[in-house]
Amino acid sequence: MKGKAWSGRFQEETDKFFEDFSESVSFDYVLALYEIQASRTYARALKKIGILSEEELSSLETALNDIARDIKEGRFSFSKELEDVHMNIERALYERVGEVAYKIHTGRSRNEQVVTDLRLYLREEGLNLKELMLRFIEAILTKAEQNLDVVFPGFTHLQHAQPVLFAHWITTYAEGLRWHFERLLDWEKRNNLCPLGSSAFAGCGFPLDRTFIAKDLGFDGPLLHSVYAVSSRDFVTEFLFILSLIMLDLSRLAEELILWISPEFSFIDLPDRFCTGSSLMPQKKNPDAAELIRGKASSVLGNLFQVLSLLKNLPLSYNRDLQEDKPPLFQAIKTTKTSLLMATLLIEGLVIKKERLTQLLKEGYLLATELADYLVTKGIPFREAHHITGKIVRFAEDQGKKLEELTLEEFKKFSTIIEEDVYEWLAVEHALLRREIPGGTGPQTVKTYIQSLKSQIETWKAGLKSP
Ligand code: ARG
Repeated sequence: MKGKAWSGRFQEETDKFFEDFSESVSFDYVLALYEIQASRTYARALKKIGILSEEELSSLETALNDIARDIKEGRFSFSKELEDVHMNIERALYERVGEVAYKIHTGRSRNEQVVTDLRLYLREEGLNLKELMLRFIEAILTKAEQNLDVVFPGFTHLQHAQPVLFAHWITTYAEGLRWHFERLLDWEKRNNLCPLGSSAFAGCGFPLDRTFIAKDLGFDGPLLHSVYAVSSRDFVTEFLFILSLIMLDLSRLAEELILWISPEFSFIDLPDRFCTGSSLMPQKKNPDAAELIRGKASSVLGNLFQVLSLLKNLPLSYNRDLQEDKPPLFQAIKTTKTSLLMATLLIEGLVIKKERLTQLLKEGYLLATELADYLVTKGIPFREAHHITGKIVRFAEDQGKKLEELTLEEFKKFSTIIEEDVYEWLAVEHALLRREIPGGTGPQTVKTYIQSLKSQIETWKAGLKSP
């Protein structure tokens, strides 16, 4: 049979320009192997209800395997005239087995095929993403462990705030990614349901065994609403939202790296191999890798928004607009995967300038909160303690002194309750040791945190290998 699948109803050929305008195979060809997998299962289901004979099924299976091999070996040529990946595979099947190829379309619609393929594809991409996320988390944990002795001026409002272990600060990104990983695990429950059997939208008119179909494709079960199955792209937007959250975290990390490598901060150095120079200014070393992660994050956020706005106002059920979900989805996946890898390489390669950080810890009155807390332990209500400490800081600043450089007499001018033991409180180590509280920056607490996240990662890694 030549021409379009619908040519029986039509009196003229499709316009060439429109054909080009409407094709999707130039991007949905990446679904080809999933299309074949789903077609194989569908053929098996048709055989179970007597639509295909044993021989027909076996010739279809052989042909589908051949086509899959051709695709993997790059010998398959996709044709735009055939519009999309589904019609391309159907035509290739026809060329190999003749009329029986068309039997496979019994009760089947591309509306359900496309979402089945997409769910299978996302299942696999989810796995790739999870691998990259675990590698990123591991890189952060390793860097943290190697630098447990490094103390960092923690920031709020980009102002020096309190001392914190570098390991505690940087593992914030491991913690973020860990929750995105959990989000993916939860998303999988909804993605891993099978639309096949929904047909165009009303459900298949032939008594297909939908449980068999779902199982054969490795889904947890059939999706039990045929209109929802072909109309909804929740599994796409939810995935894109998780990608967006990942990119937001990578972008914030990138922003910090960019600040830290600048001469004003000078907290870290990044390997030359991930930086670029200037074509004009010979002294420059630019953190382009981090800047690009930050820049690419906005394209992933855009991809999410693109699909959300595609769906708004779409009447049920399938509309051709839905074809436009794929380019932003594919782009977001590629961008997030490459950005994750780039961020991992930057973390692995970054070098901390310890002397510089040690120097900075002495400045900026990072221990002012400690002084206020000290007053609280002597019975002064916190608001008052805060007020007294504020005055002491102001006085020290005027004198050009650090807090620990003030004499006891000077302290006593602000509160007679202050004794010699105040100096113990004005040491960074003391401030850290006071924070051995779950989730805090106490050295032992941070070590325990790293160990427990590491063992969680090991469990997840083992799970990736045996699905
Ligand atoms: N290329 C289409 C898409 O991506 C496949 C489904 C086409 N269905 C249809 N009735 N034209 O959504």
